[in-house]
Amino acid sequence: MTLVGLVAYPGRMIPHVLSIAGVDPSGGAGVLADLKAFSALGAYGTGVVTALTAQNTRMVAGVHPVPPGFIAEQIDTLFADLRIDAVKIGMLGTAEIVETVADRLHRHGVKRLVVDPVMVAKSGDRLLAAAAVAALRRRLVPMAEVLTPNLPEAADLLGEPAAASLEAMRGVARRLHALGPRLVMLKGGHLAGAESIDIVDDGERQVELHAPRIATRNTHGTGCTLSAAIAALLPRERSPIDAIRAAKTYLSAAIAAADELAVGHGHGPVHHFHAWWPRG
Ligand SMILES: Nc1ncnc2c1ncn2[C@@H]1O[C@H](COP(=O)(O)OP(=O)(O)OP(=O)(O)O)[C@@H](O)[C@H]1O
Ligand SMILES: [Mg+2]
Repeated sequence: MTLVGLVAYPGRMIPHVLSIAGVDPSGGAGVLADLKAFSALGAYGTGVVTALTAQNTRMVAGVHPVPPGFIAEQIDTLFADLRIDAVKIGMLGTAEIVETVADRLHRHGVKRLVVDPVMVAKSGDRLLAAAAVAALRRRLVPMAEVLTPNLPEAADLLGEPAAASLEAMRGVARRLHALGPRLVMLKGGHLAGAESIDIVDDGERQVELHAPRIATRNTHGTGCTLSAAIAALLPRERSPIDAIRAAKTYLSAAIAAADELAVGHGHGPVHHFHAWWPRG
């Protein structure tokens, strides 16, 4: 019955989406947050863990990377059985893990890839070895359908100072596109101003995504949630820019509802299920 339904209505197929990222035990970022975003957006979520962290909403106390060989085994075992419609990449930690993940994604012919070049946690703790940035730029950035750096990550990828204005962001987005991704979504969350503006660049034109800047300290995992939402929506929406717009709308509502959760004492998580849970 189900199979007949899928054949008759292929557009209604439920996407299978994979997060390759670290574990944040507080559930606001990393694989756990990605699974929440996938689930909220109607995708079946899967996860390959690159690192365990000891982390809360205030700090990252420790990082325990998974051996690269075992990351490869997780990916290969998953792809040997499941259809995977889109992948998002978050924290990778080391150059060796970057190389391993790139090799496996090539091997499995992954096409829909969102690369979130996670380098530093909201708490300020470093999550990617400085020596791994070059590997990320060379191996994974060119494979990305969508690359989603924040301003400090964009600066590291390009080896230049971080953009401090919208005008500077335009140049940064274009230079990032030249590194090879199909689309760049340069996130402006780190700038001040009444609006949080992101720039999407496809190499020919740029689109600005405007959203009111919400006054909350609960922005832990905004970047993880956004890239996961894009991956969940890429298989459903008509174009990558449609997926990006819908993901941004979802994230903005999750940030607007974040204070209802009140989890932890630092930068708490956004509310992934704002549209589904009873609102207080
Ligand atoms: N206070 C806010 N109000 C509204 N939107 C925001 C706010 N902060 C960030 N955003 C949006 O959230 C998304 C993530 O941006 P941000 O620059 O915070 O990413 P990030 O630094 O990678 O996040 P993370 O620290 O979780 O990795 C962007 O679309 C940005 O515009
Ligand atoms: Mg981020």
